[in-house]
Amino acid sequence: MTLSRVHVSLDGTRDYEVLVGHSLTDSVAQRVRAICPTAARAFIVVDAGLPRAASDHLTSALSSRQFATATITIRPSEADKSLETLERILVALAESKHERRDPVIALGGGIVGDVTGFAAATYRRGVPVVQCPTTLLSMVDASVGGKTGINLRTSDGSLKKNLVGAFHQPRLVVADVALLSSLPDRQIRAGLAECVKHTLLSGQFGDSSLLSWIESVAQAILARDPATLAELVSRNVAIKARVVAGDEREEAESAAGGRALLNLGHTFGHAIETLPDLSPTGNPADAPLHHGEAVALGTMAALHAATSLKLAPSALRDRVGTLFSRLSLPTNVRGLPSGERVLELMGHDKKVQGGVLRLVLPCDGGVCNVVENPDRAIVLAAIESIRA
Ligand code: GLY
Repeated sequence: MTLSRVHVSLDGTRDYEVLVGHSLTDSVAQRVRAICPTAARAFIVVDAGLPRAASDHLTSALSSRQFATATITIRPSEADKSLETLERILVALAESKHERRDPVIALGGGIVGDVTGFAAATYRRGVPVVQCPTTLLSMVDASVGGKTGINLRTSDGSLKKNLVGAFHQPRLVVADVALLSSLPDRQIRAGLAECVKHTLLSGQFGDSSLLSWIESVAQAILARDPATLAELVSRNVAIKARVVAGDEREEAESAAGGRALLNLGHTFGHAIETLPDLSPTGNPADAPLHHGEAVALGTMAALHAATSLKLAPSALRDRVGTLFSRLSLPTNVRGLPSGERVLELMGHDKKVQGGVLRLVLPCDGGVCNVVENPDRAIVLAAIESIRA
């Protein structure tokens, strides 16, 4: 399989590449040595959910490139995306005598990538970080774009997701689709929800055929055909790279969209993701929703609102709903609280500014609009539309 490279264009001095391909561990070591020619050490933060062989292989590849390695393992749970985990990593970096020129490598899913990136942003005021995402979700979204951070538990006991963090762009991202072969189905589906979300804005970012392509290869994706997965990852990364290049720090005027467009499906999704009893299948044993499942439901609600506002034809909503169902992602859910309660939770979304609710709503042709203060009745109807 050929290696593909997606260039993330920033200001010319911090640009980096995302490599996408199969069995890339040796390439990681070779590229890290090229990026950090004088480094003596490499520090690897490993996702506890990964097979041991993956980190062993990376460690020996780095050793053969004259890196002394140190490794720490962290659990990939939201509760562990914490100040305590950050402190563990920082202390281990200090104890391994990690210097400013030495790279930190995140080998894991989005949680590991985010907390490792934040440790790299703050240790000695910033050391190089290399993201090696191991889940589909982190390959197509979290590992690219430099958002890093942790959750914060406040004194009322609630967990404020990603409240503390920094923008710290990686020096390199390597997405090795061989790692997806052992990923649980539910995690593949969670990543696919973000890919389908991307199809609704991809026309604005140079790939207007992404939706029809995913529809045509859905079976091959679910069968984990390596070449199809590699194309899926590189096309989605290319969209993310263009979004980030246009608005690195999410500062664009809301009418212009910018990086905030990636929030499509997330304002509804984040609200219901926090509800512990919701299950994607209706079986309580499957509760709570995974992030991607909440994004699929949130995207369906956004499509309903877009249809009500005549921004999108109802055929688009039906088409995306059919695709989610083919990918075994939920399009409705049992046990939603009242619409008013969901609306209140949406008001807690950290993207709400000055009490103004902003919804990213899809139009046709892979283009999205940001709608400020949408009519309350339309938002409530959109919530009802995903109630099973
Ligand atoms: N995951 C949304 C962003 O990177 O901006």
